[in-house]
Amino acid sequence: MYNFKGRDIIDINDFSKEELLFILKTAKKFDPQYVKRDRSNYTIAQGKIAALLFFEPSTRTEQSFKSAAQKIGMGIIGFDDPEATSIHKGESFSDTVRIMNSYADVLVMRHPESGAAKKAADVADIPVINAGDGANQHPTQTMLDLYTIMKEAGHLDGITVALMGDLKYGRTVHALSLALSHFKVKQIFISHSTLSMPDEFLQILDQRKVIYEQFDHLPDNLQADFLYQTRVQKERFKDLNEYKKVKDKFILDASFKKYLDKGVKLMHPLPRINEVDPSLDSHPNAIYFSQARNGLYIREALLGLVLGRIDPPVARSS
Ligand code: CP
Repeated sequence: MYNFKGRDIIDINDFSKEELLFILKTAKKFDPQYVKRDRSNYTIAQGKIAALLFFEPSTRTEQSFKSAAQKIGMGIIGFDDPEATSIHKGESFSDTVRIMNSYADVLVMRHPESGAAKKAADVADIPVINAGDGANQHPTQTMLDLYTIMKEAGHLDGITVALMGDLKYGRTVHALSLALSHFKVKQIFISHSTLSMPDEFLQILDQRKVIYEQFDHLPDNLQADFLYQTRVQKERFKDLNEYKKVKDKFILDASFKKYLDKGVKLMHPLPRINEVDPSLDSHPNAIYFSQARNGLYIREALLGLVLGRIDPPVARSS
């Protein structure tokens, strides 16, 4: 039996293929595409409180967690400007987590430092959900990406997913690549040579016998079901001159429409800067806005699961 109640969601690698599939299945219960009846789920976690600790800016993750929590009946507390808290007076990270822990039932945290979510989980005795820790992980983004691919393709096995842009610093592509490696998915990596997929991830893919290809340009005859475009992560560069050299190398302009017309579905975790031309937005295969909306259903499911308000599947007796 899967055990989600009280569980931290820190790293996508903490979840088995079966657990990931169960989370995707649970999210469908909150998605109006699958549930046509009134989606009034506000009694699921009534009386529970989510504390949102955002040490780094966010639009989608913060607001969708707030929306998800309220849709299942939770109250919300927290901050997105640490300078407006007693951190400004010198209070430590650990003390801040300890205090918020005592006011809430689940902590959702974004932080610029890799490993910060794990550090919070070591202090907290309620579930901690990692909403992005530096260049490390953003597991709920990975889950919503998987959900989007499954929803669009109808399955995860037997497809090809191309990941493009900043494959060095992009936490979303690292985690998505590892999550997809549970399935029979061919992966294509497209980036400037200085922003290629780090060896540590390629080694894991090799161990898992994943078929992948690497390109330093967008192939004319790209054979992929999905292209996952990413923003070059300016905030992770130590030398801004290096950022300037690569920032405009993988822009999808209006000419990308020919790929969309051929059936390639374009994803992007957002925010975008200039790497996807807005003229592509209205194409039915440009799915990044529905991808962002799917985050709501995944986060409703996760909050319900870690609070023990949604039953996990019962193990079958052998
Ligand atoms: N995709 C994502 O994490 O967006 P935000 O930074 O706006 O939360």
